[in-house]
Amino acid sequence: MKSKQSLVMELEALSMIEKNDLKNRLSQAIFETYARQDVVLVRGSKASVWDSEGKEYLDFVAGIAVNNVGHCHPAVARAIARQAETLIHTSNLYYTENQVLLAEELKALTGMKRAYFCNSGAESVEAALKLTRRATGKSKIVAAERAFHGRTLGALGTTYKSIYREPFRPLNEATFVPYNDIEALKAAVTNETGAVILEPVQGEAGVYVADAKYLRAARQICDDKGALLIFDEVQTGFGRTGKWFGKDHFGVMPDMITLAKAMAGGLPIGAMLAAGPAAEAFQKGDHGSTFAGGPLICAAALATIQVIKDEKLVQRSEEMGAYLKSQLKKLAPREIRGLGLMVGLDLDADCKLLVEKALQKGVLINSTGEHTLRFIPPLVVGKAEIDKVVSVIGESL
Ligand SMILES: Cc1ncc(COP(=O)(O)O)c(C=O)c1O
Repeated sequence: MKSKQSLVMELEALSMIEKNDLKNRLSQAIFETYARQDVVLVRGSKASVWDSEGKEYLDFVAGIAVNNVGHCHPAVARAIARQAETLIHTSNLYYTENQVLLAEELKALTGMKRAYFCNSGAESVEAALKLTRRATGKSKIVAAERAFHGRTLGALGTTYKSIYREPFRPLNEATFVPYNDIEALKAAVTNETGAVILEPVQGEAGVYVADAKYLRAARQICDDKGALLIFDEVQTGFGRTGKWFGKDHFGVMPDMITLAKAMAGGLPIGAMLAAGPAAEAFQKGDHGSTFAGGPLICAAALATIQVIKDEKLVQRSEEMGAYLKSQLKKLAPREIRGLGLMVGLDLDADCKLLVEKALQKGVLINSTGEHTLRFIPPLVVGKAEIDKVVSVIGESL
């Protein structure tokens, strides 16, 4: 066990640049497209991160639903190190083993037929949109109000918030319909619709869960009109909702699933999985990316999936999610929503301010709106950590 002093010295050695200096240099060197919190993070382990001054934070953001197995899981770090010493990159001009092993693993976990690998969530949505065109010859997309599917030009057309889309028009913009409204979906999907894209649980919107009957109706409506059904599981995948994938709560099989975030334990990866006729539609040269499905990233993903299995993190997500929700009731919320460890909380409070206060008290938490907090911690969290976070929010209120 390291003494607190030696840990602080170690952390200080990791950060060479003084915080304000770093902030100034960032503003001179990097496009400021993100609103960042006032903290420099230098180290992580399990559900905690440390800043450059040695202060520990409980991380209930988890890199935006990425660090499902916790920060720097030793099995994932070992797999990365081992693969890095063996083969890091070759391109897709050659065969590599890990990519096939990962695709087979994803097929077994989801029941889908084929994978296309990429490097992020938005890219997985791009791949699904391209496959829609290839498989159906149609370009019209129906998406849900409040949806978030990424910010690249194709994916952006399916992301709801007009402040994201407005400056970048013209885009191929989806027809947006209210989430969980079967009649509105029925009215919007026509014979010209190529695909309907839905999140089983809307994450960036503030955690809104689909109704099972809505997703079942979406399946039927798509089948009736010759449209494909895409489930965007970028945020809901890999145990986040208390099942392996969000779709597993509803018993509905889509034609495509988009994945990213938690798949490789924190390294960038995405995948678009397809089933049925869509799984036959891409031909050689139709799509590609230099880094996609490389040996290093796939080794990290295989190790991450193994950790989720070995540590029973899917079940843990369900149990800890239920505990988190029960404790959040103490905060007199307007509403609590979610599945597993993907929880939204509406409060009569300024949640942006709450996020800052929590940071000062050693808790990283995320707000998705003025009155909404989103809890997406590593799936390794325990009751004591949940208790601390709930009490910090209570004090901050
Ligand atoms: C459901 C969903 N789809 C797509 C994306 C975009 O993923 P990325 O940020 O990796 O491009 C996100 C990101 O938050 C997401 O939550």
